[in-house]
Amino acid sequence: MVKLIGSNRVRTAVFISGTGSNLKNLIKFSFLNKSPINISLIVSSNKRAKGLNFANRYKIKKKIYNFNSMKKSESLILKQLKINKISLICLAGFMKILSPNFIKKFRGIILNIHPSLLPKYKGLNTHERVIQNKEKYSGCTVHYVNSRLDSGKIILQAKVKILKEDTSSSLKKKILKQEHLLYPKAINKVFF
Ligand code: GRF
Repeated sequence: MVKLIGSNRVRTAVFISGTGSNLKNLIKFSFLNKSPINISLIVSSNKRAKGLNFANRYKIKKKIYNFNSMKKSESLILKQLKINKISLICLAGFMKILSPNFIKKFRGIILNIHPSLLPKYKGLNTHERVIQNKEKYSGCTVHYVNSRLDSGKIILQAKVKILKEDTSSSLKKKILKQEHLLYPKAINKVFF
């Protein structure tokens, strides 16, 4: 647990690459009276990410990096994080893997949400693999980010029952709903 000093909210950057439903949900969470976070920056690896619309709608500063050169993009992001005094990064559908160097250099906390019950089904296409393997349960996990993919310490998980009629897309929808409940809960767990 990290203690909040006074009523200062944790200046947070959310990293996205796509739809941004978790971003939208975190923005709403940040507006609550008792929220520990203030979303001060949105970073996208994709200039066409739908989620960028939320930056415009809620007037949050946004930055886009193409990651053609990983090293260059990461060093520009680190500068922005410093300028904006960011001490928490929430990865939310961010499709790039941050380098160990980036993780070491950023002095705050990095969290990620992953759509499976880690340590099972790390990486991509989780729902397809879960359905293919006829699992009975799946879910989502919020965890600290370390230099190994989807392997940092787990903060919270939510479990979802898989029904016979579920497809990867129905499962994705069910799990997303749980993700939207889980990410704020996990952030509260880290800061309160
Ligand atoms: C979520 O399922 C998240 O767990 C995964 O990518 C998806 C992003 O969805 N990392 P969205 O962009 O937040 O809607």
